[in-house]
Amino acid sequence: MDLHGIREDYSKRELSEAECDASPIVQFEQWLNEAIQSQVNEPTAVNVAAVDAAGRPNSRVVLLKEVNPQGFVFFTNYHSRKGKSFDANPFAAMTFFWPELERQVRIEGRIEKLDAAASDEYFESRPYASRIGAWASAQSEVLSGKAALVAKAAAVGARHPLHVPRPPHWGGYIVIPDRVEFWQGRPSRLHDRIQYRLENGAWIKERLSP
Ligand SMILES: Cc1cc2nc3c(=O)[nH]c(=O)nc-3n(C[C@H](O)[C@H](O)[C@H](O)COP(=O)(O)O)c2cc1C
Repeated sequence: MDLHGIREDYSKRELSEAECDASPIVQFEQWLNEAIQSQVNEPTAVNVAAVDAAGRPNSRVVLLKEVNPQGFVFFTNYHSRKGKSFDANPFAAMTFFWPELERQVRIEGRIEKLDAAASDEYFESRPYASRIGAWASAQSEVLSGKAALVAKAAAVGARHPLHVPRPPHWGGYIVIPDRVEFWQGRPSRLHDRIQYRLENGAWIKERLSP
């Protein structure tokens, strides 16, 4: 496979320090809103990277479920590979890529579990089958085969025909950012990169070399 010739030139938009809000959260909300309005495919899909106890990085895509003044929220299984990595090393890096807008956002910071009440609230809003799945799937563990998963889901369904409580090992995480970067593709690889860095509790906004 020859991939050398595959390259895009980016020219759709520009990004200046002046137009970026003083808060990276507000700036992110603006960009996410534009991604949703532009009907980008899966605008809330975000790559989340963790570092395990041995110092080795691992990453996967999850869905952003909330952004609030404190940070960025997603939901998962706390016993999963990512969950174990966050137990060992409570920091995360997230990357959004919205190709239709030629935009990337990178977020880094501490990660914490959401409190139980907030996880309960979101869990209750999920469809019944997804709530069953949260109990049935020992996420990241090896399965003997698909039948074992289907049988477990059926058993959980029989146990909880109506109300499915939240499994204690399933819930939210919040990434509390100390660094956020907005990347806008530009012609000739002279891209716009505006980074926010938290210093003594205040956000510093600066332009990075592409
Ligand atoms: C578009 C997309 C959205 C996903 N959303 C989630 C999610 O919100 N939570 C989750 O636990 N896994 C989600 N997954 C699955 C994860 O990528 C991953 O397979 C799973 O969390 C197990 O990862 P781990 O073994 O590294 O812990 C999603 C995958 C894709 C492709």
